[in-house]
Amino acid sequence: MSPLNVYILGIESSCDDTAASVMLNGKILSNIVANQSIHEAYGGVVPELASRAHQQNIVPVVHEALKRANVDKSQLSAIAFTRGPGLMGSLLVGTSFAKSLAYGLDIPLIDVNHMSAHILAHFIDEEGFNKPPFPFLAMTISGGHTQIVKVNNYFDMKVIGETIDDAVGEAFDKSGKLLGLGYPAGPEIDKRAKLGNPKAFKFTKPKVDGLNFSFSGLKTAILYFIQKETENNPKFIEEHLNDICASIQYTIIGILIDKLKLASKQTCIKHIAIGGGVSANSGIRQALKDGEKKFGWTTYVPKFEFTTDNAAMIAIVGYLKYLEGDFSKNDVVASSRLKI
Ligand code: KG4
Ligand code: ZN
Repeated sequence: MSPLNVYILGIESSCDDTAASVMLNGKILSNIVANQSIHEAYGGVVPELASRAHQQNIVPVVHEALKRANVDKSQLSAIAFTRGPGLMGSLLVGTSFAKSLAYGLDIPLIDVNHMSAHILAHFIDEEGFNKPPFPFLAMTISGGHTQIVKVNNYFDMKVIGETIDDAVGEAFDKSGKLLGLGYPAGPEIDKRAKLGNPKAFKFTKPKVDGLNFSFSGLKTAILYFIQKETENNPKFIEEHLNDICASIQYTIIGILIDKLKLASKQTCIKHIAIGGGVSANSGIRQALKDGEKKFGWTTYVPKFEFTTDNAAMIAIVGYLKYLEGDFSKNDVVASSRLKI
């Protein structure tokens, strides 16, 4: 029998967002994220600066999450934290903080895999959002990962396809850098793509067998294309920015949807979920909706605030593991390459 009131504090610090969330029985009471704007000046995340910023932010962020939830730390049932994958220095801050707090409060500690959390974010109790039935396919698309996962159950997942080089978020961010956009460029490309013609320029899709992805070739193709066009017209980017963004986004979405179609065909699964920062993209959201009519899919897109890195997704995994009594040993360590 499950206990009456389970309060979970979730902590996320795998990359450049320090986040904390308080959850009661699968429902979010608070969800706080402190972004680190320091990296914008460098055009990418600087690991050393990220860990320092986490150390600065972690106590205020956790404090704020408890305050907004109107929960005292003495009420907490357990603490869930991101064990990996991610940047080691960043993970160490969250891991050490979570371990110390759980030890001090004498409550269970629960380690969470960041990539499973992007998938299980679909099980947060939210009005208007359906939970996918098992088995379903989940495509995790973020700045660090691109995977297709067959989800048999909460804790039984199999990666059936993944990128062999860059992640899809990197394809957005690196293309954006070539175009002189700020970091991360994904949201800006998305915004501009809405104003441009997706078929203005054609980029060849990479040929990768099976369900794996590759994005590094696309980045090089875009680089050569920009170099060639700006040689003829130095104002090429400025004059065609929306069309270039729309064409890049169209190509990337085409690559993702092609692989999802293949995965759905191979597994005979038509329930399809997405997660991770790139699932905030309006084009991929629309393409999935179109897939419902075109391919008979039922699709699941997380609430916007649960797409990019957040601690609510860590708290939901914490809650599900709590119900199973699946707690961490007190010598658990962060793992930068943790697998699903
Ligand atoms: O999941 P996330 O917050 O962090 C990682 O675990 O990597 O994902 C961040 C990535 C970045 O590459 C960012 O450019 C991308 O998500 N992103 C987007 C959009 N919003 C965020 N990419 C395309 N369109 C968006 N609207
Ligand atoms: Zn992530």
